[in-house]
Amino acid sequence: MEEKKTYYVTTPIYYPSDNFHVGHCYTTCIADALARYKRLKGYDVFFLTGSDEHGQKIEERAKKAGVSPKEFVDPIIANAKDLWQSLNISYDKFIRTTDEEHVACVQKVVQKLYDQGDIYKGSYEGWYCTPCESFWTESQLVDGKCPDCGREVKLMKEDAYFLKLSKYQKAFEEYLESHRDLMQPESRYNEMVNNFLKPGLKDLCVSRSSVKWGIPVTFDKSQTVYVWVDALTNYISALGYLSDDDSLFKKYWPADLHLVGKEIFRFHTIIWPIILMALGLPLPKKVYGHGWLTIGGGKISKSKGNYKDPRLFIKDYGADTLRYFILSEVPFGSDGNFSEELMVERRNSDLANVLGNLVNRTIAMTNKYFGGEVSENVHPNDLDNEVIAYLNSLEAEVDEKMEALNLPSAIAGIFDRLKRLNKYIDETTPWILGKDENGKERLNDVLYTILEGIRMCTVALEAFIPETAERIFEDLKVTANGFEDFKFGTVKKYQVVSKAEILFTRIDEEALKAKLEKENEEKMPEHLPLIGIDDFNKIEMVVGEVKECRQHPKAERLLISKVDVGNGEIRQIVSGIADYYKPEEMPGKKVIVVLNLKPLKLKGEESMGMLLTSEYQDDKGHTCVELLESKLPSGSKIR
Ligand code: MSP
Repeated sequence: MEEKKTYYVTTPIYYPSDNFHVGHCYTTCIADALARYKRLKGYDVFFLTGSDEHGQKIEERAKKAGVSPKEFVDPIIANAKDLWQSLNISYDKFIRTTDEEHVACVQKVVQKLYDQGDIYKGSYEGWYCTPCESFWTESQLVDGKCPDCGREVKLMKEDAYFLKLSKYQKAFEEYLESHRDLMQPESRYNEMVNNFLKPGLKDLCVSRSSVKWGIPVTFDKSQTVYVWVDALTNYISALGYLSDDDSLFKKYWPADLHLVGKEIFRFHTIIWPIILMALGLPLPKKVYGHGWLTIGGGKISKSKGNYKDPRLFIKDYGADTLRYFILSEVPFGSDGNFSEELMVERRNSDLANVLGNLVNRTIAMTNKYFGGEVSENVHPNDLDNEVIAYLNSLEAEVDEKMEALNLPSAIAGIFDRLKRLNKYIDETTPWILGKDENGKERLNDVLYTILEGIRMCTVALEAFIPETAERIFEDLKVTANGFEDFKFGTVKKYQVVSKAEILFTRIDEEALKAKLEKENEEKMPEHLPLIGIDDFNKIEMVVGEVKECRQHPKAERLLISKVDVGNGEIRQIVSGIADYYKPEEMPGKKVIVVLNLKPLKLKGEESMGMLLTSEYQDDKGHTCVELLESKLPSGSKIR
């Protein structure tokens, strides 16, 4: 027997978050549609997703919650799996970076690279962005902040191990010349080459001594493996690479497609391929960096309160409405806007009007005129032949679009056929044929043509809206066999259900608009009562420079700073910022100080003023606090 062709597709592994939004569903829905499509085409598919659980941020959040990092993440992961289930995500494996097999694999990978001389000891100094878990060089910072998320970075120096990326640069560049597909789309290829390869690769720091919640380095227990090396390795550890049973690895590696968001493209198209090269393994065939879903044209973010739990959409409209919108709306590669109103508009216009209506009235007519039974169209006329040819061309069109990862266009091709069938009903006027006994034979042929058309479109839709496809197959009483028997005429006889169901109810768009407006009003933050300028003028604020800083001996959350507030006047100020700043990173910061706050003692330490901060939630839902900083000289008045 001929071996099935394999297809290995992955999503990134997600950071544990209780605040998953539609943006997180984006990569996963696309990967799912591709995996389902390849299965329908007869491939042996392995679809991997999972969670990325190590790193300083989790360590800090768990500490705050008073539990171990593993205890902290377990319920979050269960929650993520629940979301994927409600979206009908058909992954074959969910890997966690805390899985024993993964930990063992990462340790063996790092040890192997060390043994063969590709990893060496050095010391690392760089700008670290804690939320992104990324080190940056001075020149990569944008206005002194993290180029990815725009947040504060910290200068860190520590003993560490390095991977010789530079040693592999030339070989990698040569490889890229004949494997352009590795980096898709083209625009991101250019960005990687110009911004990272041309300036020359620096060796990569692959271990940390400052991060405790990570995979221990086997040859130096004071170090843990850098989270990105840990995370990227999931793509091979999940297949049992370097384990006792590496049969999956032998079968599926190299990956056919790593799907990733544009902000993590660099890790996947430079660092990951070079690690693989150093391990002597084949590189993934393709990494595709897609754009982001936005809301109101901007980033989806908790602090803006601009999104809902996707499960609320699934509850109100069903998983397929959300999947359909995500998969059909955004040109792949670009950013695209998400809104509940637009999603409902599409549900009404495409899913209810085009698809639902077609299925419903076809089944109703089949019942009405033939008691549900229709047989093959054995004498197709010119119109039928034109429609049949158009239907038969669908598979090749979908294949071509899916190969190019152009899912919206593949879906559009299917809906063009559904619209053609609706038009065919208008052209053939079954309700007139039904009135005339002589028209019965023609009516059979017309209904058969439509039923076959619906079946074929449903085969193609299975990858995108699987729940609906299953319902249609049940309504038509045909078995779903993927594309194997796709061709028009495969099902010779129909005997459909006795009652046509409504696949998608129409949602009242006006009522939804009113509901959303009301929700928005309720969400408006409450403001304090208005004050006059006289009240405002009572607050004395200046720029101050922190000279010294130490941890409060009796309160974990407090830092005690000595601040120069101008004219050499030094104030002691106690602030509740120890969760966000270390005492050693405070000196030299120029911050905004309220001077005329009544002095008070905080756990025995006098505080004469206040450092102003701003609090917000990042897009992963973590609360962040930042000092308000200024470039002006100490003593400059703020008003
Ligand atoms: N843990 C890393 C990935 C390691 S892979 C070896 C990570 N995790 S993440 O949870 O922050 O992001 C996971 C995926 O979700 C990324 O591909 C990211 O681009 C995607 N998205 C998060 N928000 C998004 C949108 N608003 N729109 C589309 N995708 C976005 O990065």
